[in-house]
Amino acid sequence: MTTNDIRKTFLEFFEQKGHKIVDSAPLIPANDPTLLFTNAGMVPFKDCFLGIDKRSYTRATSSQTCVRAGGKHNDLENVGYTARHHTFFEMLGNFSFGDYFKKEAIGYCWELLTEVFELPKEKLWVTVYAEDDEAYDIWAKDIGFPEDRISRIGDNKGERYASDNFWAMGDTGPCGPCSEVFYDHGEHIWGGPPGTPEEDGDRFIEIWNLVFMQYNRHKDGTMEPLPKPSVDTGMGLERISAILQGVHSNYEIDTFQYLIKQAADLLKVKDLDNKSLRVIADHIRSCSFLILDGIVPSNEGRGYVLRRITRRAIRHGHQLGAKGEFFSKLVQALVDTMGDAYPALKAQQSIIEGVLAKEEAAFAKTLDKGMQILEADMANVKDKTISGETVFKLYDTYGFPQDLTADIAREKDLEIDWEGFEKAMEEQRQRARASSNFGVDYNDSLTLEEVSKFTGYDYLSQQVKVIKLLKGDQAVDTLEEGDKGIVILEKTPFYAESGGQVGDKGYLYGCGANFVVEDTQNIGDAIAHIGYMDKGSISSDSELNANVDGGLRQSTMRNHSATHLLHAALREVLGSHVQQKGSLNDPERLRFDFSNPEAVSREELATVERMVNEKIFENHPVEAAVMSMDEAKEQGAMALFGEKYGDEVRVLTMSPFSVELCGGTHVKRTGDIGPFKIVSETGIAAGIRRIEAITGERAVAWMQQSEEKLHNLGKLLKSEPSQSVEKVEQLLDKSKQLEKQIQQLQSKLASSQGSDLASNAEDINGVKLLVSKLEGVEPKALRDLQDQLKNKLGSSIVVLGIASDDKVSLIAGVSKDLTSKVRAGDLIKMVAEQVGGKGGGRPDMAQAGGKDADALPSALNSVKPWVLEKLS
Ligand code: ALA
Repeated sequence: MTTNDIRKTFLEFFEQKGHKIVDSAPLIPANDPTLLFTNAGMVPFKDCFLGIDKRSYTRATSSQTCVRAGGKHNDLENVGYTARHHTFFEMLGNFSFGDYFKKEAIGYCWELLTEVFELPKEKLWVTVYAEDDEAYDIWAKDIGFPEDRISRIGDNKGERYASDNFWAMGDTGPCGPCSEVFYDHGEHIWGGPPGTPEEDGDRFIEIWNLVFMQYNRHKDGTMEPLPKPSVDTGMGLERISAILQGVHSNYEIDTFQYLIKQAADLLKVKDLDNKSLRVIADHIRSCSFLILDGIVPSNEGRGYVLRRITRRAIRHGHQLGAKGEFFSKLVQALVDTMGDAYPALKAQQSIIEGVLAKEEAAFAKTLDKGMQILEADMANVKDKTISGETVFKLYDTYGFPQDLTADIAREKDLEIDWEGFEKAMEEQRQRARASSNFGVDYNDSLTLEEVSKFTGYDYLSQQVKVIKLLKGDQAVDTLEEGDKGIVILEKTPFYAESGGQVGDKGYLYGCGANFVVEDTQNIGDAIAHIGYMDKGSISSDSELNANVDGGLRQSTMRNHSATHLLHAALREVLGSHVQQKGSLNDPERLRFDFSNPEAVSREELATVERMVNEKIFENHPVEAAVMSMDEAKEQGAMALFGEKYGDEVRVLTMSPFSVELCGGTHVKRTGDIGPFKIVSETGIAAGIRRIEAITGERAVAWMQQSEEKLHNLGKLLKSEPSQSVEKVEQLLDKSKQLEKQIQQLQSKLASSQGSDLASNAEDINGVKLLVSKLEGVEPKALRDLQDQLKNKLGSSIVVLGIASDDKVSLIAGVSKDLTSKVRAGDLIKMVAEQVGGKGGGRPDMAQAGGKDADALPSALNSVKPWVLEKLS
C-alpha cells in the first residue's frame, strides 16, 4: 500500500462511519494566537470541542498537515536521530464533537487496524490513563485485548495531569486522558513496552492516540469540563505507512525513499542511510509546506522557525559536500511525491523554490566562515563545553540559529554553555518578545458569552439595545462621561474588523448621551464597540441609536470591492499562481499582498489597472449569497489563506469575473467604486509583492494633484503641460551642449595659458626648464598642456602643479632627447614625496597626486637644483 493509498483508505473508512471528510487546514492556525503552528489534527476543530464553533456535522475525519518545531510539541532536535520524529508530518484523525465517546472510538480503531489494515493482533500493545477504568474495561472486556499487554500510565511527568496518557494541545485549551496503541517492530530492535525504562527505544512505536476530550484547561491550572465529552484521535501517516510497507523506520517508506534518493543523486552521495540525507528529506517537507502557507524566513516568530529548519538542512547538505544551491532543487522531488494530494504545492512550486534559493544564497555567504570559527573553538574547548559567547557570535554575526550549533555540538559530543548564551542573548530576546504575539493565553483574552447580530449589510443606522458594558475587562452597569469602554449591542450595523476590512467608526447616542465608537472588533460572537463616553452616560440596558460613519464606511467598501477585482485581475494577467497573502481595506486605501516570484512590470500593472477599471465601468451588480462550502467550491469561489470558514459561507460575486468567499461589506454595483488607481508595487518578502491602490474620491484627488504638479512644471518650463516632456528633453540636450562648450573653452584657456607659460621657461645650457603652479586649470587638462609646452619649447623639462581643496595634482614632461639623463618618473616622485603623494609614468611623462597643498611651492622650487645636478 502506498502512502497515498493509506491516506485514502483511512478517510474512506471513517466516511463510511458517518464522518465528514474535512480538508487539511493551513499550518498557521486561524485566529489562534496560542499556537505557533497547527501541530495536531484537532487544531482546526479546537472551537468545536469548546462548544464555541457549531457545525452541521458532529463527526469529522481529516488528514492534517502538521509541523512540530517550536512551541509545546517540538521535535526538531530529534529529527535525524530517531526513526520516527519529523518536523512535518500528516496526522490522520477522526473526531467526535459531543457525538460518540470512548466505546466507539476504541471500536473503530480496532476494526480499522485489525480488519482493514490487517495488523497482527499480537503485535499491538495498548496504554490507558491510570485512572481511566472505563477505557481499560473497553479494551479488556469489549475488545478482548490481552490484559498483559495493556499498560496503565499515570502522571509520570511530575505534575497532576502531566502524563504520556493525558493529552493537551497547549498549556491551555481542550485536553483529556488518552489511550495509545503501539506496534511492536520485533525483538531485533532495542526497546521496551510503554511504561518500562526501555520505552524510549524504537521497538514499540506509538501509532495511534485516542484522546477523550473532557476539559478546557485554563492558565491557572483549573480544568473546566467541556460542554460535551468528545473524541480526538491522531495517527501519524508516516508511522502507519512504515508498518504497512513492512519497514521499521519512517524514512524507509515510499515518499521518504524517493526524497532521499533524489537528494543523494543531487549531492552525489552513495550511502542512502546517511543521517544527513534523512534530515534534508524531512526538512524539505516542512520548509516547503510552511512557505506554501505564506510563511517566509525572518528573524522572529514563525519566520524564524522556518529559517532555523532551512539552515539546518543547508548545513547538513554542506556536510555532505554540497557545492552551491541544492535545497531549493529538491522542491521538484516533493512535488513529484505529494503534488497529487496537495495540488497547491504544484501551483506554488516556483515561489517555494525562489524563497528557498534566496535563503540558501544568503546563508552560504556566512556558513563557511561560521564553521571555521566553530571548528577552531571546538578544537580548544574547556570541559567539553562550547562557550555561550561563541554560540551567540555565530548566531548574531553568521546567522547560525542556536539549535544548529547545538546540533553540531551533539555530533562532536560537546555541551553548550547555555547560561552564557542566554546572558548574551538577553537584549535580543527582549526585543523579540516585545514584537512577538505568541504565548498569549487563549483564555486570557477577553471572552464573552453574548451574541450580537450584524445588520450592517443592509443598514448604517438603527435603533439598538445595549446588552453589556465593559470598562477594561470588567462588566459595569454604566459608562459615565469621560469613561473609556466597550459597548455590546443585541444587534448592530457596525462592522467588526475581519477579513482585512477595518472596523467601523461612528456614534451610539440617545437621551442626551453620546458614545464615540473609535473601533469595532469581534470578541467571540459578540461585536464590541470600542470608544469613549463623549457626553452623558449610558447603562447596560439603554436603548440607543447606532450610527455608523457612512462616509468612512463607503470609502472602505469601495476599497474592499476593488480589492476583489484587483485579485481577479492579477490572476488573469500574471497567472493562477497568484494567491492572496494578506490585505487591508480602510477608508484611505487598499493594500493587497500576493505571491509572485518577481516584480510586476509597468506594462502588467497598467493592464491590471485597466482591467479593474473596465469591470468598474461595466457596472456589474455585486451579489452575496450564503451557501455550503461544497457549493461555493463548485462555483469556483476563491477561499483565502489563513481564514477560518464555517460550514456556511458567504460568496461574493461581481460578474463571473470575481467569485470569492467574503464576509465583508461591499458596494452595490462595481460602478460605485469610482476610479481605481494603483499607486505603488513593492516587494515585502521573497516571492511576496504588495500593491497599494486608491479608489473613489481619493483617486480623483490623486489625479488632480498629479495634474497640478504637471501644471506647475509647465509653468516653470513656460510650456503647455502636454509639451513638458519635449521641453525637458530640449533642456537636457541644451545642457549637454553647454557642458561640451565649457570643456572646449577650458582647454582653449589652458592652451592660451600654455603660450604665456612657455615664455616663462628658463634656459639652462640649451635646455628649457619650465616649473609652474597653475590656477583655474582642471587636473584633466594637465596632460595636454604639458604636451603642448614640450612641443613649443623643443628640448625641455616641464613640471606643472595644481592645488585645489587640499589636493595636489602634478605632471612632469621631459622631451625625448633628454630622457637618458632626466626621467620624468624620477622627477615626479621626488616632487610628489614632498607633498605627501606618490606618482609614476613613462620616462617622458609622469603624473602624481598629493595631499599637502601648502608644500607645493617649496616642492616646485626643489625642481631646478635637482635638474641641474642631473644635467651636469
Ligand atoms: N491530538 C492527539 C495527538 O496529537 C490525537 O496525539
